[in-house]
Amino acid sequence: MKVMSVVGARPNFMKIAPFIRAVEAYNQENEPGIAHILVHTGQHYDDRMNRAFFEALDIPDADINLGIGSGSHAEQVGQTMIAFEKVVQEEKPDWVVVVGDVNATCACSITAKKELVRLAHIEAGLRSRDMSMPEEINRLVTDRLADLLLTPDRLSGENLRSEGVPEERICFVGNIMIDTLEAQRGKAEGLELGGVIEGYLHEDGSRWSGDGIQWSVVGGQWSVDSGRWAVGGDEGFAVMTMHRPSNVDFPDVLGPLVDFLCDEVCGEMPLVWPIHPRTEGNLKKFGLWQKVVGTKNMVLLNPVGYHEMLRLNMAARVMLTDSGGLQEECCVLGTPCLTLRWNTERPVTLKEHGGASVLVGNEIGRLRKAFRQTLNEERRPARPELWDGRTAERCVQAICGR
Ligand code: UD1
Repeated sequence: MKVMSVVGARPNFMKIAPFIRAVEAYNQENEPGIAHILVHTGQHYDDRMNRAFFEALDIPDADINLGIGSGSHAEQVGQTMIAFEKVVQEEKPDWVVVVGDVNATCACSITAKKELVRLAHIEAGLRSRDMSMPEEINRLVTDRLADLLLTPDRLSGENLRSEGVPEERICFVGNIMIDTLEAQRGKAEGLELGGVIEGYLHEDGSRWSGDGIQWSVVGGQWSVDSGRWAVGGDEGFAVMTMHRPSNVDFPDVLGPLVDFLCDEVCGEMPLVWPIHPRTEGNLKKFGLWQKVVGTKNMVLLNPVGYHEMLRLNMAARVMLTDSGGLQEECCVLGTPCLTLRWNTERPVTLKEHGGASVLVGNEIGRLRKAFRQTLNEERRPARPELWDGRTAERCVQAICGR
């Protein structure tokens, strides 16, 4: 059997790594095995958004790279479809496997089905019901087309049933992101936190640090001090990530968020912020960059690697994020998580379902209140059903069983 799996953007990489590992394990036990081809659409191409993850997660180089790169949604989806069609016609796979909800997921799903190739979707059934999110459109299209819908939690299965997806296409396998978290947790724990921060400091954010970064270890507690911020010791720190168009594409939304982060969060504790290229670009465009880089206690980083993010998350007092993957990781690690969205396709990570996350949208009053509340909170790790580190194995079994 020939299986072609597809990755395009950063959040895909941690989902495909365990799948490839599970295919290799299957091939050691079974004859004939699975002939696997990895296709990278090239949507994310920077070393720090792309290559760093392949290396850290030991993902083999893609067999085929479509080299699509940046562009509008229609450009990314259209160009991916044109390039992927040729690949499918040439390679004639039995299955195309897509993960997540990025533009590559949707583009390759449409192409595969038009070429009459069977389609499996890992992370099927997530629904935010927010049609202003490009990812929601990608999820709906992909799930409508897929022959095998591999779901991360029971709520996702219910979503699919309510949309009329036949029962035999749905298979509850658990969350494949957690396979990677469990496989890499030990390595992340071994990282020196100060080294992570120093290693990824953003050029502009560290410009004012004068004589450079000073390290100290007092009573077994380390701290890194730039003169404008100090991270380490008892005080704790917040971690932040933000890249969704709804938060970063409009100055009247991004401006007040930046004020809250700089004036209130940084007034309380250091804020470690690995910045996404989309967000950095918009902060500069809207004239907000100087405020961010000049704020005391703002620890601005370039996009960090997988293990580094996990390490920051393990140590954070609070996470502020609009990323779906981080909501899931905070759930398992128990990090109090303020989700900068009005809805989530991952309700299982919310406090009301036993998780660690609260939805705060981007309304500052709500954000302030939730932030204050979390300052008194303890970590509360939770493990939804089948988030057990063995999801990829179940995905491979499900595909081979069809
Ligand atoms: C994409 C995904 C989103 C995911 C996010 C994680 C879609 C619709 N969105 O959003 O679901 O959560 O990735 O990162 O697929 N850029 C670089 N270097 C890169 C990649 C992008 O500088 O390696 C720049 C691009 O020029 C572009 C911007 O970042 O202007 C956004 O990239 P894009 O791929 O359009 O979407 P993301 O916002 O990253």
